[in-house]
Amino acid sequence: MKIPKRLQPLVDDGMIDEVITQLMSGKEAQVYVVRCGDTRRCAKVFKEAQKRSFKQAVQYQEGRKVRNSRRARAMSKKTKYGQKEQESAWLNAEVDALYRLASAGVRVPQPFGFVDGVLLMELVCDADGSVAPRLDDVTLSPEQALEYHDRIITEVVRMLSAGLVHGDLSEFNVLVDASGPVIIDLPQAVDAAGNNNAEMMLERDVANMRSYFGRFAPELLKTNYGGEIWSLYEAGKLHPDTKLSGVFEGNSASADVDEVMAVIAAAREEEEERRERARADEEDDG
Ligand SMILES: Nc1ncnc2c1ncn2[C@@H]1O[C@H](COP(=O)(O)OP(=O)(O)OP(=O)(O)O)[C@@H](O)[C@H]1O
Ligand SMILES: [Mg+2]
Repeated sequence: MKIPKRLQPLVDDGMIDEVITQLMSGKEAQVYVVRCGDTRRCAKVFKEAQKRSFKQAVQYQEGRKVRNSRRARAMSKKTKYGQKEQESAWLNAEVDALYRLASAGVRVPQPFGFVDGVLLMELVCDADGSVAPRLDDVTLSPEQALEYHDRIITEVVRMLSAGLVHGDLSEFNVLVDASGPVIIDLPQAVDAAGNNNAEMMLERDVANMRSYFGRFAPELLKTNYGGEIWSLYEAGKLHPDTKLSGVFEGNSASADVDEVMAVIAAAREEEEERRERARADEEDDG
């Protein structure tokens, strides 16, 4: 296909040899299948700040470590420099998370570099080499649903043990390759220790997975892995190989989760309206 403008610098640098096809345009990014030498890879082109949506909400930003204090000060100001720094911190977050999670043993696409707002990473494929489907695209047997749920819970525990909460975990952000679930889409990943919303987000992530897999294995709907995981984490007792029961009675954060869900639904609606307006403007222009 014709080389999209944002990918041209990577083609010029020899990082990409050919752009094969566009996968889909999400809310945050455009995703392409590209060829690098004789391997196919995935190129995720982030939209400019003002075109992105709810994931950049303040809730996600809290506690993000900015190592350079001059930069931190700049980011807190509404200057052009400050905004630029904030933008690059946001964009780097997904690359950072991919490296951190891969080394923590979480199945995520392998990153190959981040240049000019483009993340180049491993293309996740199914058994016949086609681009892997999302969880939302597959139908599971009850046994498979239980097994995949179990594996995702293990991944969530590994992530949290590495200090991160995904923050937008759902059937749309998990791919299924020949050996099972692969977690994607991490620019909003939240610092578990430094962000006051981390508990709610963890519980929401786990609750999303429970309701998805619960469609195929309804016994999962009674579990409360989120509460259990967080309470072990808070007590300093969570390890990547901790045995979990799925039973937890305690002060659940679920009331707060409902509130966050409502805020996010509202943000999504706003984004939809904004897009409608942009479309209408475009039509007026053309
Ligand atoms: N490494 C990959 N391998 C194969 N397919 C991928 C890969 N990364 C992303 N995709 C595909 O591209 C889609 C969009 O990617 P991603 O979720 O990272 O972007 P997004 O714009 O943040 O999406 P949204 O905001 O709509 O959730 C995914 O749903 C998946 O189908
Ligand atoms: Mg996504």
